[in-house]
Amino acid sequence: MDAYSLRNAVAVCHALVQPHIGGADMLVDMTCGNGHDTVFLAACMKDTAVLYAFDIQEEAVAATTALLYERGLAHKRIFVRHGSHEMLLAQIKENPDLVLFNLGYLPGGNHAIHTDSATTLKAVDLCLHKVSANGIIMITAYPGTPDGAREKAELAEFLRTLRQTEFDVSCWQPVNQAHEPPVLFVIQKRGQP
Ligand SMILES: C[S@@+](CC[C@H](N)C(=O)[O-])C[C@H]1O[C@@H](n2cnc3c(N)ncnc32)[C@H](O)[C@@H]1O
Repeated sequence: MDAYSLRNAVAVCHALVQPHIGGADMLVDMTCGNGHDTVFLAACMKDTAVLYAFDIQEEAVAATTALLYERGLAHKRIFVRHGSHEMLLAQIKENPDLVLFNLGYLPGGNHAIHTDSATTLKAVDLCLHKVSANGIIMITAYPGTPDGAREKAELAEFLRTLRQTEFDVSCWQPVNQAHEPPVLFVIQKRGQP
C-alpha cells in the first residue's frame, strides 16, 4: 500500500496538514530549525501564498534558507526571519491559515538553546488570536527532557482551558513507544456556524 508514514508526531502533523496547505494564503513555521518543515510547506503551497519561517538561531535561518535554494523553492514568497517567534509574528498584519510549531532544540545544534514554556505559551496565545477562521495550529512537543516535559505539561494545561465553542483541540500520542516520545497538539479555530 502507498501510504504516508504515521510513525511519529511530525509525520502525523504533515499527514494532517497536507490537504490544507494548497488552500492556505498565509502559512507560518514558528520554529524553522534545519528547514524540513518549511520546505514541506513551501513545496505544497500555492504560488500566491506567503510563508513566514522564524528561528532564534541565525544558524537555523541560514540552514532553512540554504535548504529552500537546494530544493528549488526560493523563488516562492517565503520570508525566513531571525528572532523570537512571538515578536516576529506580532509584526505581521495578515492572519495565518496554517501555523506549525516544532518545539525543542535544533537537531545537530546547541541543545542548550531550546523553546521555553513561557515564550511558547505567549506565541501560541498570539496565534490563537491571529489565526483565521478554520485555521489550523499544529504543535509538536518533546517531553523527553525535563524542560520539554514541563513545556508539554504547561501547554496541555493551557489548551484544556480553551473554549470549545471557539477551538477544536486534540492531542495525538504514541501508546507503545519506549520513553517519552513526541506528542502532537492539533488546534483548529472554528468558523462561522
Ligand atoms: C525541533 S527544532 C525545529 C525543527 C524544524 N522545524 C525542522 O524542520 O528542521 C526547534 C527550533 O526552535 C527554535 N526556537 C527556540 N525558541 C524559539 C523562539 N522563541 N522563536 C523562534 N524559534 C525558536 C530553535 O532554535 C530550534 O531551531
